Amino acid sequence: MPAQGALLFLHALKRWYHIKPSGGSEEINRHMLEVDNLLKKELPMDTVRLDINPSDKPVCRYLQNAVDNGLKHETGYIVTHLQKFTSILHWQYGYGNLPEDMKENYAYSEILGPRGLIKSSDIAAGVVLLAPAAFYHYHEHPDLTESYLNLAGYFSQNDQAVYPPESIVLNQPGKPHKITNDSSQPLLLAYIWTGSKKAILESRMVFD
Ligand SMILES: [Fe+2]
Repeated sequence: MPAQGALLFLHALKRWYHIKPSGGSEEINRHMLEVDNLLKKELPMDTVRLDINPSDKPVCRYLQNAVDNGLKHETGYIVTHLQKFTSILHWQYGYGNLPEDMKENYAYSEILGPRGLIKSSDIAAGVVLLAPAAFYHYHEHPDLTESYLNLAGYFSQNDQAVYPPESIVLNQPGKPHKITNDSSQPLLLAYIWTGSKKAILESRMVFD
């Protein structure tokens, strides 16, 4: 049942943040603990909203490819749940002024959050899909702390490193970041946002 898949996906994501090392970074450790605690609080609920209509974007042509790749990694136990409810995902852009080159190559889908399949005003989580060779322009989340967990593909953020699957990258509020993917394979990221209730409700993303 697709709705059950969404809950299992979030449980699996929580488990990753619960058990995985933070690389010795206090800031990442604090974020991972916060995510673990928030998801623990939110996940007993079993209500999946039925008023969210599934919707696709052009980049969804790569979703199956990304899921197939994602199953090969340790994070595959998270992806295996995702594939059970791809049919009910609501894909969107989230920006009114999306650059032309991103329209075919980018979309995200909120799974938990104010507009997610499962409602929360304390935390948001979902997935981002980028096509092969796509460029996610510099953007920031003025009031949100964000982490990306790479589920499939290889990406670079701000020209700092190449992040393979299973990597977590932390973006503090207001920190501009761009994502590049020059491989022939799509990129599938889980994202998590934490912040005040107001920040989660607004979920602001802005291009620089
Ligand atoms: Fe971001």
